[in-house]
Amino acid sequence: MHDTHEQLPKFVVVHINFPQSGTHADAQDDLTECLSLVTAAQAIPIAQVIGSRKLPDARLFAGTGKVEEIKQVVELHQADAVLFNHSLTPNQQRNLEKSLGVPVLDRTQLILDIFAQRARTHEGKLQVELAQLQYQSTRLVRSWTHLERQKGGIGLRGGPGETQIEIDRRLLRDRIILIKERLEKVRVQRTQLRQKRKRKPVPMISLVGYTNAGKSTLFNALTHADVYVANQLFATLDPTLRRIELDKLGEVVLVDTVGFIRHLPHSLVAAFKATLEETQEADLLLHVIDCSDPRWQQNIDAVDAVLTEIDAAQVPHIKVFNKIDLLSHESAHSVYDEQEQPSEVWLSAHTGAGLELLLKAIVEKLAELLVEHEICLTNTQGKLRAKLYELKAVKEETIDEQGLCHLRISLPKGIYRQLFPQN
Ligand code: GTP
Repeated sequence: MHDTHEQLPKFVVVHINFPQSGTHADAQDDLTECLSLVTAAQAIPIAQVIGSRKLPDARLFAGTGKVEEIKQVVELHQADAVLFNHSLTPNQQRNLEKSLGVPVLDRTQLILDIFAQRARTHEGKLQVELAQLQYQSTRLVRSWTHLERQKGGIGLRGGPGETQIEIDRRLLRDRIILIKERLEKVRVQRTQLRQKRKRKPVPMISLVGYTNAGKSTLFNALTHADVYVANQLFATLDPTLRRIELDKLGEVVLVDTVGFIRHLPHSLVAAFKATLEETQEADLLLHVIDCSDPRWQQNIDAVDAVLTEIDAAQVPHIKVFNKIDLLSHESAHSVYDEQEQPSEVWLSAHTGAGLELLLKAIVEKLAELLVEHEICLTNTQGKLRAKLYELKAVKEETIDEQGLCHLRISLPKGIYRQLFPQN
């Protein structure tokens, strides 16, 4: 932790445009996001170096001329490290460090650092540590050379001996196995909790959105809970659950989730799968959008891309345009689609304007989406029973003396009609 602004490490941020990675505007968005990430990681983006290439250089990622330019910028600003807004191979990272003479980080490492600073629950911390260890295990030689150097220049004689690296590799492997086992235990507990929750047919609503959109603020406004709210990226790393009572519908569970970002590195999507599992299983997503952010459309696209990646794109959703208090021309309102279903709500989680419209929209959407039925299946209907389980529709099952299965199911109307056209 750094006490004053002056003590924060200074980063030179490098962004290279490639023809395949989109337009100039996309590149600008990526860079703007990267600068916020640096600030979120408690560092100062002191200078930027931008370049373009057809393909990354195998050895240095950027060209030799560009690396020379970066070196001059590092020296000019006396920067502490260089951040590449890309994924680097261990070799590229090592070669760049040799050429630049300061530590070089890549985007995955930066996001991992932020995640590590912010993880709060046991599971969140384990997930971050696992992702960090997995990242480190591919870069072991480099991190050891670092350690040696920190210990007083011993690294100058060319890094640790092979045996030391091997011992370290084994320790790392053991630690990864241990963390995986612990995570598995935490996951089993969570699944049990979730199943307990499912026994009672309570619809689940998940808040998703680009980081800093205002999910936690909205969550608090809807539940009056005191969830951690901060004007920092990724303030929320673990889903937080609360039950709330809705008019006509009764109890629902509201879930606050981690904020999404553009190009979330794949290894992190896997590491945070448990956090995002809640999203896949939700009956309804509230996609929270900061409408005062000029990049709101790109942020929506970034969130949609991650939702597709975690198989949650098909979950019904309402777009919640938050922070209307920051726009002089907006007032609270809802928008309905052709089927007269609520599709958007414009509100301010901060002032509370429009919250009642959102509650109304949730009730309308859920009432349309879910129907609950008691059904009875014979033992020749095993396929249908398996299908219902696959759809996670079964809330309760009992078997009577005649061997008939009595199921209480909760399904979206459309699917119910497909499976039981005769009813
Ligand atoms: P992550 O945890 O990073 O995903 O963020 P989040 O989406 O949960 O955002 P959070 O609720 O932490 O809010 C981010 C910042 O926006 C905080 O400073 C909030 O006070 C502010 N904020 C949230 N809603 C509103 C709003 O309606 N109006 C204004 N003016 N600010 C808001």
